[in-house]
Amino acid sequence: MMPVTNYYDILVPMIRNLSKKLFKLKDLGLILAESENSGQKLKKVLGPFDLILLGIGVIIGAGIFATVGTAAAGDALRPGAGPALILSFAITAVACCFAALCYAEFASLVPISGSAYTYSYATFGELVAWIIGWDLILEYCVGSIAVSISWASYFTGLLHSFGVNLPDWLTIDYRSAFHGYEKANQLIQLGMGHGMTLDPGLKKAFWAVHDAPRLFGIPFICNLPASLIVLFLTVLLVRGIKESSRFNMAIVTIKLLVLGFFIAIGAFYVKPENWIPFAPNGFAGIKAGAAIVFFAYIGFDCISTAAEETRNPKRDMPIGIIGSLLICTVIYILVTAVFTGIIPFSTLTQSMSTEKAAPLTLALRHIHLGWASIIVAFGSIAAQIAVLLVLQMGQSRIFFSMGRDGLLPSIFSRVHKTFKTPHVATIFTGSIIALVAAFTNIDEMIDLTNIGTLFAFVLVCCGVIILRVKEPHHHRAFQVPFSPVTPLLGAASCIFLMTGLPGITWLRFVVWLIIGLFVYFLYSIKHSKINR
Ligand code: ALA
Repeated sequence: MMPVTNYYDILVPMIRNLSKKLFKLKDLGLILAESENSGQKLKKVLGPFDLILLGIGVIIGAGIFATVGTAAAGDALRPGAGPALILSFAITAVACCFAALCYAEFASLVPISGSAYTYSYATFGELVAWIIGWDLILEYCVGSIAVSISWASYFTGLLHSFGVNLPDWLTIDYRSAFHGYEKANQLIQLGMGHGMTLDPGLKKAFWAVHDAPRLFGIPFICNLPASLIVLFLTVLLVRGIKESSRFNMAIVTIKLLVLGFFIAIGAFYVKPENWIPFAPNGFAGIKAGAAIVFFAYIGFDCISTAAEETRNPKRDMPIGIIGSLLICTVIYILVTAVFTGIIPFSTLTQSMSTEKAAPLTLALRHIHLGWASIIVAFGSIAAQIAVLLVLQMGQSRIFFSMGRDGLLPSIFSRVHKTFKTPHVATIFTGSIIALVAAFTNIDEMIDLTNIGTLFAFVLVCCGVIILRVKEPHHHRAFQVPFSPVTPLLGAASCIFLMTGLPGITWLRFVVWLIIGLFVYFLYSIKHSKINR
């Protein structure tokens, strides 16, 4: 008689073994001990004030200085919120507040570098931790790419206003250049202008393609300032966190002064009739606006990635996260009220088609305050440098943690002998961001950053509830009030914001996660430390 293969006996242990690996939790005590005992320790130099500054440094940036215009006016993919953008900010602030409270509980419970990645290792197990770590690349890396491109556009614009002009082919990306070049050519063929009389955006694209040096017949076009700023900050981060946070403090001061200046001076020019109609596109516009301006809030979670470098993380982390979020929310609401009060919605929708990147300076020029717009442009440049600094730092700390856990090659967890910083992870992060920023377009980067970050927030909110059940006795210096209601509201509001993003963004997000799963099953699962 033929022997009967008992598939049940073979398959069941295999599946059990695999799921044991995939959902193996990293013990909370082990996580804390690892950080204390490993030779790969980071310097503990940050206090609560440093953390709030770090938070403001990363939160206020391209969101208020650049995306606020698109959110108010809308674009081809979505309706604009109009003056009701104030409500969009309020809605997003509420969602972020719920998530911030959850982050604060996690950060006070697991004061270790790595952010949501580390937290989920302790709650959901390795597979979800990997997915989060991979997903956070969208927040930190793609977010940095978006901000560096936006920074570069303000920077070249400011140089231009002082009569310094870099070659067009060194300050634009391929897609924008070719898209603009085609449009410009169509207009020229229709006899509606020539190379010198086109609208400034089209003119730049036209001359970029026209003048670019050819490599094997292909025009070489790149955004050099975007790459250079990223490389500059990489050097700063390798040299050390204290130096970097001092630099951050100076920039935060400039940023607050400049936004205060915008609010104070703009308030004199507000015309209440500009706030009518308040919501020209109804709730659809408000919701779409909320999903875009979410970018302006990204960053408070970055503070938790510096937990390992904080002197007293259990007390200081919640203060740092919630404090900086509250301060930024007040500033955003005031700036938005002034912005929508000084420029009529109809003017805004017309101008935004060509001046997307600089809505605040556009509004100041609208009230004939050109000198004030130069000051605000300066502030914007400083603000975005600070955002980049913290985003780049956050990404390198996540790579550092993943390297320490074996999910990425261990070289990522090396600490520099003199500077005590994760130099390999920092240089790798900086190089990738600098390279991609030189060649990509900002539009999709913002949406992709938002969806990735919101997804991480959803998991963090759920993680708080799970950890309360699984680790009820673990000491929490800070506890989310009204749990599980608050975390559930946090998860629901983040999902709500995700649904405000375009379908193509969802598709890209899913593709990114699938690539991540391939990497996990081909490399990480075999090298993971807790599985060995
Ligand atoms: N919140 C950051 C910014 O607005 C990402 O630039």
